Amino acid sequence: MNQTITPLDHEKVFRDPVHNHIYIRYQVILDLINTTEVQRLRRIHQLGTTSFTFHGAEHSRFSHSLGVYEIARRISENFNKNYPSKVPGDGLWDANEELVTLAAALLHDVGHGAYSHTFEHLFNTNHEKITQEIITSPDTEVNKVLRTVSDDFPDKVASVINKTYPNKQVVAMISSQIDADRMDYLLRDAYNTGVKYGTFDLDRILEVMRPYQDGIYFEMDGMHAVEDYLMSRFQMYQQVYFHPVSRSMEVILNRLLLRAKEIFTNTTQVNAQTPFILLPFFKGEFNLNEYLKLDDGVLETYFNTWKSHPDKDLRELATRFLDRKPLKSVAYDEDTAYLLPKLKELISEAGFNPKYYTATDTNFDLPYDAYRPNKKPIQLVQHDGSLQELSTVSPIVNAISNKSTGDQRFFFPKDVIIPDQNINLFQSKFDEFNKYIKNGKLITPKEK
Ligand code: NI
Repeated sequence: MNQTITPLDHEKVFRDPVHNHIYIRYQVILDLINTTEVQRLRRIHQLGTTSFTFHGAEHSRFSHSLGVYEIARRISENFNKNYPSKVPGDGLWDANEELVTLAAALLHDVGHGAYSHTFEHLFNTNHEKITQEIITSPDTEVNKVLRTVSDDFPDKVASVINKTYPNKQVVAMISSQIDADRMDYLLRDAYNTGVKYGTFDLDRILEVMRPYQDGIYFEMDGMHAVEDYLMSRFQMYQQVYFHPVSRSMEVILNRLLLRAKEIFTNTTQVNAQTPFILLPFFKGEFNLNEYLKLDDGVLETYFNTWKSHPDKDLRELATRFLDRKPLKSVAYDEDTAYLLPKLKELISEAGFNPKYYTATDTNFDLPYDAYRPNKKPIQLVQHDGSLQELSTVSPIVNAISNKSTGDQRFFFPKDVIIPDQNINLFQSKFDEFNKYIKNGKLITPKEK
């Protein structure tokens, strides 16, 4: 019998603030947790710059990964007990799928890098591709552990992440409109930010979840728990994930890395401020090994050294990021977008290079998608066995279904509109700039 897939003699239990306990029952899962690639996730914040707004949000991708594993474990335990497959293809749960589900849940974010969202845009990295590479590359510890199950096990786990795995129940558990990943991050992010609206009844949702031929559906009796989950998701996006201050700190991070790239890519001068670990990304040629050296601490250590760099913009952007000096922002739309060049001009006249101190950013979210074929809708099973798409029976879900919400914002230095004694040089610009802003929105100023 394969040692790694036999249950442990004594299960391991980790304490967790969201799920209370996380149960480890297989040696292979314990070995995966102990790999260098998974341990690295301890050094990457789950929410990037959100902790500049909600200071409690310091939790790591490691704790989220364990949480997703635990939810997937509970789903498969419930399915093993209540919906075991009797003949292949009967649409019930095949217990042989348990291990691939648990491994994929644990590893689904293993390719995330430091400040992923900002970093990916700037340097064309892709955490989903890198997750699959970490799983399938023979050079990683994760791959070595997975191969103790079977030679083709790494490919199976990678195909779950890639959504091409043949068993759609497994794919839906890790990646769908209501999956272990989303359920964990909503609860964990609500817990750590301290907001009160991200919570929902996870126990109830897991109770009403059922396997069927093409995925997972929910019993009609659990409709309100599912509604509550979607409302939580909606509110977390509007209130937490799209917070303008966190987004402005992302803008500063983006401009800081951009300026660093300009300065250091072709530098011949080498000193303590040279970001050796970042150079491959600045040059656009990096390998997996170089990627795995990055974490939030590495970036922040460089930023710290740049606070005294001779380049004024690099120095100031690093200081703004580390000392939390967010940019101000204003919402705009297609009718007012024409004013942006004028505002940039004023900012430039006030002494700020618009390239480093302004940005536009668009954030929209679709809280529930009832129609798109590639995103399966949430199905409820009636007492007579027929299926109903959630928004057709839930008025509250119908109200948010297929409606994307969010905004477009223009970011600029606060100093332009909030004059401080030291920079009253900007007073005249401040008055002029303010004519364009009303109730946080960009407006066309009235002619005198
Ligand atoms: Ni995740």
